[in-house]
Amino acid sequence: MYSLLIHNARIAQPDGSIVEGDVACGQGRIQHIAPQIDASAQETLDAQGRLLLPGIIDPQVHFREPGNEHKEDLGSGSRAAVAGGVTSFLEMPNTAPATIDQAALDDKLGRAAKKSVANYGFFIGATPDNLEALNSVNPVCGIKIFMGSSTGSLLVNRRDDLEHIFANGDRLIAVHAEDEARINTRLKQFAGRTDTAAHSEIRDNQCAVLATELALELSIQYQRRLHILHLSTHEEVDILRRSKPEWVTAETIPNHLFLNVADYERLGSLVQMNPPIRQPQDNKALWQGLRDGVIDFIATDHAPHTLEEKQRPYPKSPSGMPGVQTSLALILTRYAAGDCNLVEVLQWMSAGPAQAYGLIGKGQIAEGWDADLTLVDMDTTRPVKTEEMFSKAGWTPYAGRELTGWPIYTVVGGHVVFERGVIRDGIYGQALRYSPTGDIQPS
Ligand code: DOR
Repeated sequence: MYSLLIHNARIAQPDGSIVEGDVACGQGRIQHIAPQIDASAQETLDAQGRLLLPGIIDPQVHFREPGNEHKEDLGSGSRAAVAGGVTSFLEMPNTAPATIDQAALDDKLGRAAKKSVANYGFFIGATPDNLEALNSVNPVCGIKIFMGSSTGSLLVNRRDDLEHIFANGDRLIAVHAEDEARINTRLKQFAGRTDTAAHSEIRDNQCAVLATELALELSIQYQRRLHILHLSTHEEVDILRRSKPEWVTAETIPNHLFLNVADYERLGSLVQMNPPIRQPQDNKALWQGLRDGVIDFIATDHAPHTLEEKQRPYPKSPSGMPGVQTSLALILTRYAAGDCNLVEVLQWMSAGPAQAYGLIGKGQIAEGWDADLTLVDMDTTRPVKTEEMFSKAGWTPYAGRELTGWPIYTVVGGHVVFERGVIRDGIYGQALRYSPTGDIQPS
């Protein structure tokens, strides 16, 4: 017997076409796809002709556990994820303690197994002196380097230390590319400023450009797999457009696509983040970069802080915004408006991150692949509501925005975990599995 049988869906195919039919799931996999399946299942649902997407993959979130569970934990963060159609996430190491060794990783994996309603994977964080752990700790999706300091204490900013990491090992290196020296110089220059808009001036485009250039230089020198996190500037898009080695990938995030410095006036430090929100011309260049394939996919950098923390006067306000629950609907709103096509949506939101991180069995709806699915409603447009957000942050910079394409069912491992605003109890995700060769075809 199947665990789940979905009737009457418009099924998104890897090539961007849509076929109408039924999908049967069992043992965590998609077992059968056909125009009509008559079989028994523990649960049957009628998709009523709605669009069925492969489960969305968010390859950059901060879920704060352990250490800052008042902002988020693996339970609340993953609930926000599935409510946003996200079935798998990759989580960052700037927790407390930071994820910089096997013990800290094992602790997180153990917590996630008990609490996460989505599938989960974790980065190992680089420090100037944990090189051995960076290359031996398992399982991880990659190494995270903060080249400029942000939330938490992780930082590797000296060229020698960076070079040492790039020169040793072959794991994916994901960089938060902001130049620490320039940030510090400008912090002094702007010391008197207490308006949040100063944040984008202090950590200006050039801060990001310098660090991205250095990461690219080292990646080329050592032929090292590099992923550039949350690309935010038009200059970086140009740099990558001119020359992007085949082993380099880049992402951008909704905050850098949909927000810009004009939003400081209305939202103040709620929209303060690192790298900061930029100018409208940067928004435009990032969209163009996505369409051209210069930027490979979209993450959220979901970085929850409480409202009370965010309302501290700048610069005491922390950087970061929640976003895991709103990302898919934001992008599908652009799809509904005809600004992008379904192949792009699939690539940016699921297949792209699955390929880049070698996530076995993830990223497409096909027989034998993992039964992670997101059924979205493209016929309804409704506003983002703060009270519907599952993040402990308890706020969203997108409150009030009218969005099309909200998830109505989210399926993880062949079981419905989210249905029309409600999380089902007792269903948990699994640890992601990584392909050492890049072949993510399920065996
Ligand atoms: O704004 C940010 N917040 N950028 C980061 O790189 C970290 C994040 C956080 O963890 O709060």
